[in-house]
Amino acid sequence: MATGGQIPTWMKVVLLISIQICLVIFLFMVDQGEDGRGKIISKVLKEARLDSTESTNVILIWTYPFDQRFPLNQCPPHLDSSRCLFTDDRELYFSADAVVIHHREVSFTSTQLPQGPRNIKQYWIWFNLESPNHSQNLHFMEKKFNLTMSYRADSDIFAPYGYLQKHNSLENFTIPKKSKLVAWVVSNWIPSSRRIQFYKELKKHITIDVYGRQHLPLSADDQIDTLSKYKFYLAFENSAHEDYITEKLWHNALTSGTVPIVMGPSRGNYERFIPAESFIHVEDFSNAQELAAYLLKLDQEDLSYQHYFTWRSRYKSSGQLDWDHFYCKVCKALKEAPPYRTRPSIEKWFI
Ligand SMILES: *[C@@H]1O[C@H](CO)[C@@H](O)[C@H](O)[C@H]1NC(C)=O
Ligand SMILES: *[C@@H]1O[C@H](CO)[C@@H](O)[C@H](O)[C@H]1NC(C)=O
Ligand SMILES: *[C@@H]1O[C@H](CO)[C@@H](O)[C@H](O)[C@H]1NC(C)=O
Repeated sequence: MATGGQIPTWMKVVLLISIQICLVIFLFMVDQGEDGRGKIISKVLKEARLDSTESTNVILIWTYPFDQRFPLNQCPPHLDSSRCLFTDDRELYFSADAVVIHHREVSFTSTQLPQGPRNIKQYWIWFNLESPNHSQNLHFMEKKFNLTMSYRADSDIFAPYGYLQKHNSLENFTIPKKSKLVAWVVSNWIPSSRRIQFYKELKKHITIDVYGRQHLPLSADDQIDTLSKYKFYLAFENSAHEDYITEKLWHNALTSGTVPIVMGPSRGNYERFIPAESFIHVEDFSNAQELAAYLLKLDQEDLSYQHYFTWRSRYKSSGQLDWDHFYCKVCKALKEAPPYRTRPSIEKWFI
């Protein structure tokens, strides 16, 4: 009988006991971890006056965009934010299911991004509504993010400045009473910019009322009322980038019931979001003088002018969206997100 390979019984007992002790400690730690998260979550749920549910997605708002606070956990029903808890409590950083990081506040130094060990199951969501030209240090975001949320239609979470909703049946739209011709609201006056150059040419041929800093005064409360009296509105973007179509079109022009004259991405790009016959593109004309001549002609021909409103019997436009509208979209997106996903380079994509 060979005894060399045999382990003495006392050793087996010691081994077994050690394994059991380790297991108990391990289970205890796991329990503590879950309990820790559970405790903080129920505390936050309580603060938000929400019911505790089985599987809650915790969504951490890393910074408030431009420091503009908004109410958390008050999402409208159509954005389906059940089983999500929004919080700004950074104590929940490690255990949060997602962290939404708004670009501006983390674009000055990379240390503004979350530091410390990273939970590999967590999604970092990059959120930005500014154009690439106004988004600094995109390279800070290399190899860190899992999902994107921006005005770009190919974002994981598409967050446009406005959108159309189809009416259930045809509706009559009443064009607001018109007494003036062309309006423009501009605050960022850069003389060398394309839009200012174009405006200077255009105003040689047609009257344009300019509102904003150093121009005619316009309070936010009066804006829609004032602009609605104009036949046309210059919805000129500050730069031309794919899908970069802002409140200048959606709110200033469409909400006020004027015909937008757009400058920004191509006509084809606009037509992905609004009907071809709802707007005038500066590139439909070879120069500003030709555009002015066309506008003056429309001013004389009511039927041709009214044609720019026919789409409104089929659609309604929504154009002033609050910050919580965008954040509320995260909940549903998170439930539909693949278990693993990365966006290696924001810088190469966001151009
Ligand atoms: C829209 O206007 C037309 C013509 O004025 C009228 O016959 C029709 O009943 C109106 N429809 C609605 C939904 O108000
Ligand atoms: C973005 O900015 C750069 C320089 O800062 C400029 O050359 C370029 O024309 C701008 N792009 C657009 C689309 O405005
Ligand atoms: C998110 O991206 C990081 C960095 O690429 C990765 O380590 C992590 O596993 C990803 N998480 C998910 C849920 O995809």
